[in-house]
Amino acid sequence: MAFFQKRAPLPKADLQHLPRHIAIIMDGNGRWAKKRGLPRTAGHAAGAETFRAIATYCKEIGLEYLTVYAFSTENWKRPAEEVSAIMGLLKKYLLEAIGQMEHDRVKMNFFGDLSVLSPELRQLCQRTQEISTHYDGCQVNICLNYGGRDELLRAAMAYARDCVEGRADPNHLTQDQFGTYLYSKGVPDPDLVIRPSGELRLSNFLLWQSAYAEFYFTDVLWPDFSKEELHRAIAAYQRRSRRFGGV
Ligand code: IPE
Ligand code: IPE
Ligand code: MG
Repeated sequence: MAFFQKRAPLPKADLQHLPRHIAIIMDGNGRWAKKRGLPRTAGHAAGAETFRAIATYCKEIGLEYLTVYAFSTENWKRPAEEVSAIMGLLKKYLLEAIGQMEHDRVKMNFFGDLSVLSPELRQLCQRTQEISTHYDGCQVNICLNYGGRDELLRAAMAYARDCVEGRADPNHLTQDQFGTYLYSKGVPDPDLVIRPSGELRLSNFLLWQSAYAEFYFTDVLWPDFSKEELHRAIAAYQRRSRRFGGV
């Protein structure tokens, strides 16, 4: 019966008043593949295509910042072949992105500890970042070997070093100053955090930055995530009343 039911009409997102910064936990690749009897790696390949399409669309509609969770500090627990397939897809994506960059003018940035990546992948990350430093299009931040707690510990250690070496005063630290120790330095906090795949958790994503983010959860698996779903998320965001503790 459900088969014949019409989906609710698409809520209209107001593209003239977009959130400045959307962050997405790109989850559900493995389940998408499993449903089709495919290996999990096929899900990651499909997820990479979705990322490409959504990033392009975000650029087209004039979004200022898009941050995506691609690989967490906890994802190393996965089987070695799955990890290496994900790294291979990232490499492929970045190589293609470099070819397109002049045209797209998307500014690429990475949040996470890149030091443990293969030298080749690390260099690709650095290159895409360098090439696009002065681009003025949408800024895409890829969270790679990223964990919110890891980010906060690194920031605390860097701040402690600055205190010991006389560059910072241990008795005075504002939230804005602390923010400069984070990977997200200079990037406004996300307004909207989207998590597909039906999971209702942050999984160590942008713990500091999402203090006042609006959340949008959907059962759609990341490889099936579409422009329409993005519109639904933005429309839901636009119906919210953000009070930031006020009235
Ligand atoms: C997200 O999809 C991709 C990464 C975490 C790298 P998953 O691989 O977590 O997919 P599910 O959650 O198992 O379906
Ligand atoms: C979060 O998804 C990390 C990424 C999407 C990159 P996970 O699949 O790793 O999260 P859990 O394990 O379900 O919390
Ligand atoms: Mg998952």
